[in-house]
Amino acid sequence: EKSGYEHFMLKEIHEQPKVIKDTINSVLTDENISFESVGLSDEDMKNIQQVYIVACGSAYHVGMVAQYVIEELTSLSVRVELASEFRYRQMKLAKNSLAIIISQSGETADSLAALRLCKDKGVRTLGIVNVVGSSIAREADNVFYTLAGPEISVATTKAYSCQLVAAYLLAMQFAKARGEISDERFAQLVEEINTIPEKIEKILEDKERLQWFASKVVNIKDAFFIGRGIDYAVGMEGSLKLKEISYIHSEAYAAGELKHGPISLIEDGTVVFSVVTQSALYEKTISNMVEVKSRGAKLFGLTTYGNYAMEDVADFTVYTPRIDNLFAASLSVVPLQLLSYYVSVGKGYDVDKPRNLAKSVTVE
Ligand code: M6R
Repeated sequence: EKSGYEHFMLKEIHEQPKVIKDTINSVLTDENISFESVGLSDEDMKNIQQVYIVACGSAYHVGMVAQYVIEELTSLSVRVELASEFRYRQMKLAKNSLAIIISQSGETADSLAALRLCKDKGVRTLGIVNVVGSSIAREADNVFYTLAGPEISVATTKAYSCQLVAAYLLAMQFAKARGEISDERFAQLVEEINTIPEKIEKILEDKERLQWFASKVVNIKDAFFIGRGIDYAVGMEGSLKLKEISYIHSEAYAAGELKHGPISLIEDGTVVFSVVTQSALYEKTISNMVEVKSRGAKLFGLTTYGNYAMEDVADFTVYTPRIDNLFAASLSVVPLQLLSYYVSVGKGYDVDKPRNLAKSVTVE
């Protein structure tokens, strides 16, 4: 069932263009997004004032991206919370709010507990769930199913990517229903979101380069990921992918935080992966890269075609196709998935079943 791929993870990475397209097409026809199947009307979307996004692991990282996108497109206030923390806090949940619970399995114990807590407090819940009929899908007031299909590899790739587009589509429709986006901008985003699958195909065509780079870093002991905004959220995901399947100690930092402590960890040869796709923050992150380089860091730069100045500072550069800044995570995550995959293979580890981890975490 691996369809000729050596591991499920690699197969699932390659399935991304198709399953992303399926997920987009489940709610987007021509120029219109409809959440009728989800049970969210435009009227509902107009009345919501506060959004809580609650999840664990990679799904939480999707929530971080979603927060940036929703904040950029709408007037909604958004909070992203780790389910394991959220469930034990005494948060005062606002009226007219929507809690979005993101979960591939729909069975994650902490996410399910968070969902129940929201329901008890009278907060409407929306699940972004992959497994049909799972607990979160059954108990949430509304469900937006991602159409990633069965994900076997413990390290999530295609489900994460489908959750991202689900979040974009929600943000876009929130903006439209609330009259907060121009018709031109909405049409432009529709056009852009539809380019994600083919652009991922392009990145996958170049995977040998990442394989080569991975062979150079298989023996490193520590890795750092830096970025700002959406790039920070992608760095968090890249770092989790690397640590969970290659067992390399890895940390992700908001680039602006380096000076507040983490920079003291940089020494000669420390590998720093820098995600730099957000045009408004480009210069800022580059200057952080220069700072760590001057302390001996080896830099992996991940940016978009056109940002060739990256090569002046990075030791190894990977380019992703250009896309609207809001959707950049969908492209920049792919080289990081491939990188962690090849590092794990290079170390001879059990890629699909990393030690100590379960595909679905049904106990807290
Ligand atoms: O099934 P869920 O989406 O609720 O799972 C959440 C996390 O356990 C999951 O994303 C985990 O972090 C993955 N192993 C990451 O690859």
